[in-house]
Amino acid sequence: MNILVLGSGGREHALSHKISQSNRCEKLFIAPGNAGTARLGENVSLNIEDAFEVGAFVKANDIGIVVIGPEAPLVLGLHDGLKADPTLTELIVVGPRQAAAKLEGSKDFAKKFMFRHKIPTAAYETFTKDTLEQGQAFLETLDPPYVLKADGLAAGKGVLIIEDLNEAKGELKRMLVDAKFGDASTRVVVEEFLSGLEFSLFALADGHGGYALLPEAKDYKRIGEGDTGLNTGGMGAISPIPFFDDALRNRTIKEIIEPTIKGLVKDDLPYQGFIFFGLINTDRGPKVIEYNVRLGDPETEVIIPRLETDIIDLFIAMNNGTINEIEVNVNPQTAATVMAVSGGYPGSYEKGKVIHGLRDFDQTTVYHAGTRLLKEIITSGGRVMAFTSFGLNKEEALSKSYAALNEVSFEGMNYRKDIGFDL
Ligand code: AMP
Ligand code: GLY
Repeated sequence: MNILVLGSGGREHALSHKISQSNRCEKLFIAPGNAGTARLGENVSLNIEDAFEVGAFVKANDIGIVVIGPEAPLVLGLHDGLKADPTLTELIVVGPRQAAAKLEGSKDFAKKFMFRHKIPTAAYETFTKDTLEQGQAFLETLDPPYVLKADGLAAGKGVLIIEDLNEAKGELKRMLVDAKFGDASTRVVVEEFLSGLEFSLFALADGHGGYALLPEAKDYKRIGEGDTGLNTGGMGAISPIPFFDDALRNRTIKEIIEPTIKGLVKDDLPYQGFIFFGLINTDRGPKVIEYNVRLGDPETEVIIPRLETDIIDLFIAMNNGTINEIEVNVNPQTAATVMAVSGGYPGSYEKGKVIHGLRDFDQTTVYHAGTRLLKEIITSGGRVMAFTSFGLNKEEALSKSYAALNEVSFEGMNYRKDIGFDL
């Protein structure tokens, strides 16, 4: 079968790597891909938000499965656009339709969904510029810190956590009235602050109430060591995580995973694809911080390498609504990934730096994120490469990743030296 992966990050490189290992994969295409995916298949230049352009490529290249990596095309309705073509009814699309992608595309929609299905999450209210005063009054009823979330997609920057009440009131006004996040902050969710350890869990839903549970992971979002400084897309990740024991696993499945999957069916929200549960383990049990309608990056770079079940078998079972019949086998070792980023990221940074020292390492896989192949491999983004290794424990996995990282360099390269420090 011919397969098309959409996206250009480490997530898409790791997915493509797993897909290319399957006997069922004939030709693999990645749009637009990066210097890493170019070694696994053919990179193609497509506007991945344009269903007509993607659909034409699918037909011309006899594609059987399209895997949609990032959220933007899902939220814009790429799945629906592809399936609107009567010649593409058999195409397997991994990623939900637009109606269900609102779980990530609108925080207010996600909160309403969770309350409707009694899924534990932070208390909240949603405000618009017409209800700014009520919003500021609501802030007075909460304990600090205050959590303000732009309703729409804001490239991971739309969540503010603020200690001071007056500052929170001012930010609420800037979001609603001054459109701090553009259209994304036309509505703002104000919610209760939750404390506990954060972790992420992933499932592949088949749209009929069945799902395959994938491994859990923890990512490290802050740029600085000890979880300090600005938020990034993610500086590293570990899977499995020791505090996710059987008791927490069973409770999370019963209180969060199953009600979510059943809720999607009940609400008639067609969902065939990955669901990312952003969770926090509070002293009153696990709660949902957010849903994403795709895999996480860099979490994919640790959970997908651990997957031993053929990923194409999973996609086919997903499409047939029979995913509950598949056994998901996972490598019990620990996988760790460390992200090398451009100097200055997540602020402004320079691109086009030549990457030195890259080779096929024995014990580490380098998943490319922001790279391009010209005469040499150069940087082309903030997050550049993720170094993933396995070990009997996180220390062993991390020491291999850091050893490989020390052989690679580009001008301004930065990475966190403390991934996994809190586990
Ligand atoms: P999100 O974009 O929804 O993932 O939010 C970004 C980050 O903000 C999360 O990973 C959490 O660390 C933090 N966060 C979001 N909501 C809350 C909350 N209600 N309580 C505490 N931290 C939160
Ligand atoms: N690593 C978090 C995300 O992919 O949203």
